Amino acid sequence: MTTIPSIDSLRTQFSQAGQGHVFRFWDDLNAEDQAKLLQRASEIDLQEVAQLVETHLKGGGAHQQGFDHLEPAPYISLPENGGDAAKWKEAEAVGEQALRAGRVAAFTVAGGQGTRLGYDGPKGTFPVTPVTQKTLFQVFAEKIARSAERFSSDIHWFILTSEINNDQTVNAFEENDFFGLNPDQVHFIVQGLVPAVDADGKILLSDQATIAMTPDGHGGSLRALVRSGATALMAEKGIDCISYFQVDNPLIPCLDPAFIGFHILGNSECSSKMIPKAYPLEKVGHFCLQNGDTVVIEYSDLPEEKQQETLPDGSLRFVSGSVAIHVFDRAFIERVGGGSDAKLPFHRADKKIPFVNARGEIVKPEASNGIKFEMFVFDALPLAKNPVIIEGARAENFSPVKNAEGVDSPKTCKEDQLRQFAGWLKAAGVDLAKDDNGTPAITFEISPRFAADKQDFVSQWEKLSPQTEICDGVVIQGEGM
Ligand code: UD1
Repeated sequence: MTTIPSIDSLRTQFSQAGQGHVFRFWDDLNAEDQAKLLQRASEIDLQEVAQLVETHLKGGGAHQQGFDHLEPAPYISLPENGGDAAKWKEAEAVGEQALRAGRVAAFTVAGGQGTRLGYDGPKGTFPVTPVTQKTLFQVFAEKIARSAERFSSDIHWFILTSEINNDQTVNAFEENDFFGLNPDQVHFIVQGLVPAVDADGKILLSDQATIAMTPDGHGGSLRALVRSGATALMAEKGIDCISYFQVDNPLIPCLDPAFIGFHILGNSECSSKMIPKAYPLEKVGHFCLQNGDTVVIEYSDLPEEKQQETLPDGSLRFVSGSVAIHVFDRAFIERVGGGSDAKLPFHRADKKIPFVNARGEIVKPEASNGIKFEMFVFDALPLAKNPVIIEGARAENFSPVKNAEGVDSPKTCKEDQLRQFAGWLKAAGVDLAKDDNGTPAITFEISPRFAADKQDFVSQWEKLSPQTEICDGVVIQGEGM
């Protein structure tokens, strides 16, 4: 346990950093609030705050990317799109071997607030599957359990939460007996917070005893893994490949042998999956090469003409969408998430942040008044040696639940799951009636506990006797599940 410094020493440190106003109301606070403020203030890295203010407020911002010499980043194509089928087979075998050897852990970032979805609770507890309404967490848990069974190996699962949703997340697992997983192999990691500041770089108070703190972004997941001791635990267990995915995407194969294999074969520190963009202005990041470095440039930063640029054959030039699926090398996480100079940069976001003014009144601003800072995990790519990018089929990898309605909503995600299940059945020789969009006419489900990906399904289905009759409402789950 770290000891909390005295109020006098903290007050001096904050005053010297030009942040003494944080204790402005100290004498008016009761003992409980004083203790709370003291604890929080002691956790703040004043040097980091000073650097952020210097870079983003005084220095006019970091990261002014020029886009003139931007190239599309190279990637390994799927065999059906011209990739080398033998290489994919080799990668798959290498990935399977690593899974069997217990070298791979799953890592889900679930610290976000899911405000766009309008759901009150950790997003991982949102029900998504078409028939049984399993939650996102249950889907991932069952895929991980199935992979552990398939590769006869222990698979550890690390989940990034935030102070806002950690207790609810842990409760959801406890109430559901960890969805059948061994609780010793599920690890919750609370991400860090950074204070929000005003336009003068002064730390904002949300009330007299509370510093306005905001999560440090999914990029903060890397330092959270180091600070929490998770990377040390991984080292002890012989884990060196970390399969990273977002909480909002139930289509993801949590532990994809071919992806892990390409990462290992490429001696890569950070590998990523690209999905060809569905349309030119799709709101995803773009994998690019900038001065020889592999980078992801968000749709909000990349000029529209670049997003729409085509090659002579009419195809999109910047086609590689980043959908936040990565494999990290553990030692790399230790380097960028630890004390080395290779750190992820922070990005600035201007927000309306309620604050307490000098008179102690709470103000709810009408316009942006505050600045919050967050790190993006894809900024690790230019810091990584030998980054590898492979193509992933959208139908097998990506259908996030982000919005209550419209694109990336529960409705589109359910349809994509149905199409994925129908595709798996087709690969196993069962063709269902479908509409023009390829959506099956019936609603049914394949339990992730039965099969974690298409290839797994085909071999599981072959072994199933008798084979499940496919009808409306059926759940394919094998025996005893
Ligand atoms: C993100 C990516 C975008 C990608 C898209 C794919 C950014 C800036 N953009 O967009 O390139 O194409 O996903 O779906 O990331 N999270 C935390 N802690 C935080 C913030 C977020 O754990 O402090 C987690 C969330 O729980 C979620 C994930 O990170 O699992 C993504 O966050 P979200 O804000 O939904 O990202 P998008 O804007 O949708």
